[in-house]
Amino acid sequence: MFKFKFTERNDTRYDSIDWKKLGFGKYFADYMFVANYKNGEWNKGEIVPYAPFMIEPSMMTLHYGQTIFEGLKAYYNINGGANLFRPNMNAKRLNNSAKKLVIPEFPEETFIEACKEVVYYNRNFIPQKRGESLYIRPVMFGSSNMLGVHPADEYMLIIFASPVANYYEEGLNPVKIKVADRYVRAVRGGLGGAKTAANYAASLYAGMEAKKDGYSQVLWLDGVHLSNIDEVGAMNIMFVIDGKLITPTLETGTILAGVTRDSVIHLAKSMGIEVQERIIAIDEILMGLEKGKLTEAFGTGTAATISPVGKLSFKGVEYILNNNQIGEISQKMYDTLLGIQYGEIEDKFNWTIKIDF
Ligand code: COI
Repeated sequence: MFKFKFTERNDTRYDSIDWKKLGFGKYFADYMFVANYKNGEWNKGEIVPYAPFMIEPSMMTLHYGQTIFEGLKAYYNINGGANLFRPNMNAKRLNNSAKKLVIPEFPEETFIEACKEVVYYNRNFIPQKRGESLYIRPVMFGSSNMLGVHPADEYMLIIFASPVANYYEEGLNPVKIKVADRYVRAVRGGLGGAKTAANYAASLYAGMEAKKDGYSQVLWLDGVHLSNIDEVGAMNIMFVIDGKLITPTLETGTILAGVTRDSVIHLAKSMGIEVQERIIAIDEILMGLEKGKLTEAFGTGTAATISPVGKLSFKGVEYILNNNQIGEISQKMYDTLLGIQYGEIEDKFNWTIKIDF
């Protein structure tokens, strides 16, 4: 299993963690993977202690945002070791984002091996409580020091880890979402389908306004007409209308190809639920709510897992979904997905990679 040079640290970050209040992304585990791209090639990469590193004020990414990232999780396996969930999907998506941002691609097999070793060396940091996991955050960015606007010629890939609980304070309780009717996150032909900082930066102002109004997230509409549903930013969105699972299509190129989105689509089909990936007008959602045909909505994401939506607000009108309770399909998806991830349910899709220790 060991492919990379390993430098051991002589202390640990373990004791500084409040394991009872993990929250999301507040604590960082002992080791990270680092690879550098120089003179047209990636070096071998190595596992080193998680630590700050030096950058120059002229580092291009600080100015022009040539950076992409990923998010995947390792779960405590009830039968021993850990399960890494679908890292091959993240390896592919990282390279799709890389193409859009003119960043050199990273070999997929090496990426997966690096994630496995990051989990192995941080194995003490994998929480054992249900709903908690070790979140792995790969980030890849231009590291050259230059001021002209063009792609960098040097890059870094860092893969570090963070023991996490729920992304939202609500946990599996329904979240309140505000549909953005003035701001946009992405447009066709833009970067919406890439996992890159720009999309998250574009979401902050509207997110802050939504928070002030008491909503946890923003649901984005398409960037031209503000009439079709895109995604929530930290997660994709799914609706249950007339018993069918309906979610925005990836074909517009404006939403992220979520790994949890893909997993839920596969699970739903295997359960005999009809799935439609297509353009969804906000008017169809409002009509579905008014007529009682829309029975559930939930977000899907690696960080957010399955996050039921209890309240949706659009242009000042608030709609309540399923009596602000988690719906039957949302619950079923949550239970099945987590069951597979923790090794409790047979992994018929071969999604998990077991790491023994
Ligand atoms: C994830 O679900 O992994 C994400 O990257 C969403 C968010 C934390 C940015």
